Amino acid sequence: MDQVDLLPHPVDVVCLPAFPRCRTSPVEVAACPLGPEIDSIGEKLFGYSAPLSALPRTLPGGIGEEVKSYELFGGGYSSFRRSDPRIEGRIHAALGTARSVLNVGAGTGSYEPTDRSVTALEPSWRMISQRPPGSAPVVRGEAGAMPIADEAFDATLAIFTIQHWADLEAGLGEMMRVSRRQVIFTFDVTRQRDLWFTADYVPAAAELEERRAPRLEQVVKALGGATVEAVPIPGDCIDGFGAAYWRRPSAYLDPNVRANISSLLQLDPSQVQPGVARLAADLESGSWQRRYGHLLELDSLDLGYHLIVATQAA
Ligand SMILES: C[S@@+](CC[C@H](N)C(=O)[O-])C[C@H]1O[C@@H](n2cnc3c(N)ncnc32)[C@H](O)[C@@H]1O
Repeated sequence: MDQVDLLPHPVDVVCLPAFPRCRTSPVEVAACPLGPEIDSIGEKLFGYSAPLSALPRTLPGGIGEEVKSYELFGGGYSSFRRSDPRIEGRIHAALGTARSVLNVGAGTGSYEPTDRSVTALEPSWRMISQRPPGSAPVVRGEAGAMPIADEAFDATLAIFTIQHWADLEAGLGEMMRVSRRQVIFTFDVTRQRDLWFTADYVPAAAELEERRAPRLEQVVKALGGATVEAVPIPGDCIDGFGAAYWRRPSAYLDPNVRANISSLLQLDPSQVQPGVARLAADLESGSWQRRYGHLLELDSLDLGYHLIVATQAA
């Protein structure tokens, strides 16, 4: 049985018939941004809204490999990947006075502000299906070809997603086309080995990111200039992304934790298991504590995560 049929609640989803860019689509998106009073983006913009289970499940042209991994493995995402309030504060501050926000690669809706008009853009049904009741309406689409009108939003947001985009420049170009302000939360791929887990135990995870993730300079250049601010990761970080457990080593022994970190779940288990077994042994013998025990004293740590903020000229 398909996951989407098991949804306990309808999710407002817009899926354009041929998934075209709205600039060339006969179903032009004219009315964005949406007011907060609008519950269903589909009804308002296209006269089309339906429970998720009634909508088509394939993206025209096929879905990319990166999206596919979220379709296949994203089942427990909403339990392990939740907004961390300290990181959220930084992201929301970076949105400035934007009243309308498009969250690109929105996943299950982490970090979406509740005091602004938010619309989500997300390609994976599995991720869409895990959005909680009452969360922002979703447009099913991908970053490189957004079915969204020019300048439809005050700001676009992209959190932990740009490393998955097949065409970074196209995606950032679309963010600039549909909004004047762009806010991106991502990691510095050159600092993958700042985290002891990737450096010492699963270096293949660092290698995977080094192959696919863009460098910060590439992002800044594509945006035509941007500010870049480091965001230290709290030792008790609530959002379970790759480096979130730097102060809680035994968390990496939990297969459910690893299943919600894309760089670990996309690897062959043979590239992960030996490192995990070694970590278990090192924790048992006290070897990890001898090498890294000093980290247990810290409240937060700079591991290369950054907020990139750009504002385009009017
Ligand atoms: C690590 S999740 C982050 C989700 C959410 N932003 C968060 O912070 O929890 C990455 C998301 O990017 C989405 N994604 C992958 N490829 C994409 C693309 N080309 N365009 C837009 N989103 C994409 C995935 O489906 C997934 O939901």
